[in-house]
Amino acid sequence: MMTEKHLLGLEGYPAENIETIIDTAFGFREVLERPIKKVPSLQGKTIVNLFYENSTRTRISFELAQKRLSADTINFSASSSSVNKGESFKDTVQNIEAMKIDAIVMRHPHPGAPLHLTKFVDAVVINAGDGTHEHPTQAILDLMSLKEHFGKIKGLKVGIIGDISHSRVALSNIHGLINLGAKVTLCGPPTLIPKYIEKLGVNISYNVDEVMDWADAINVLRIQMERMGVGLFPSTREYRNLFGITHERLNKHNKKLVIMHPGPMNRGVEIDSNVADSEQAIILDQVLNGVASRMAILYLLLGGKQEEN
Ligand code: CP
Repeated sequence: MMTEKHLLGLEGYPAENIETIIDTAFGFREVLERPIKKVPSLQGKTIVNLFYENSTRTRISFELAQKRLSADTINFSASSSSVNKGESFKDTVQNIEAMKIDAIVMRHPHPGAPLHLTKFVDAVVINAGDGTHEHPTQAILDLMSLKEHFGKIKGLKVGIIGDISHSRVALSNIHGLINLGAKVTLCGPPTLIPKYIEKLGVNISYNVDEVMDWADAINVLRIQMERMGVGLFPSTREYRNLFGITHERLNKHNKKLVIMHPGPMNRGVEIDSNVADSEQAIILDQVLNGVASRMAILYLLLGGKQEEN
């Protein structure tokens, strides 16, 4: 049973809920391996995917998860809606809810927008990324991928490398990993690591080689040029030299370090192509686990029916 109606972020989110989602997601991974990858669990439920910001993985995997669970699915893109005629956020969501929907999956550029949405609608709200704040479903699929690979999360040593300041993936991963008993070290240029962040129970390092020596897995983040305004480091070339996960750097470390990346990747900047495509990378496993974990989240929050054998 889930103790929360919505999934807005992993800060303060109960560990037992995260564990229930991950355990349920492993069950749905099996469904995804079947010839017919569909169960009737959410038949009769209607879910709207409300995207005010671009997405490839999150949007497609939510839509696929909804279809695999037999829910009815509606896609809303702000760029092709009446938002462009000046309709407010409140009017938009209240009109959508008036059509009798059960859940809204929302991505929005403003931190806190999903919480704001819960004030206007009775539907279940799932945060699919709100600005630089949180991306809880990405963190859950990352946790599932770590558990799949290592068989546990408690005690794992995870490095999060790169643009921590602008990363909702980093913040949700920090809350989820610490909550489930992993050890976390953040690494990147000082200008891309917020000053307060150690209070969340993480370590900070400015030396990526030290972190790679220490870690069982590293989660490599995209440099988010679009959120930076003025440059916060001298050049992408210097960034790659100091913090990039290059083939040469990985080969220096005589260990099977697991490489993760939430996507989209800047190949040749934060990660080299031959690292991203190597056997040590579990990036495409993360993508598949994204469908399974989003199926689990929708199923658990919408009170899905058990499959009959
Ligand atoms: N990882 C992630 O959120 O990717 P998208 O922006 O493509 O959804």
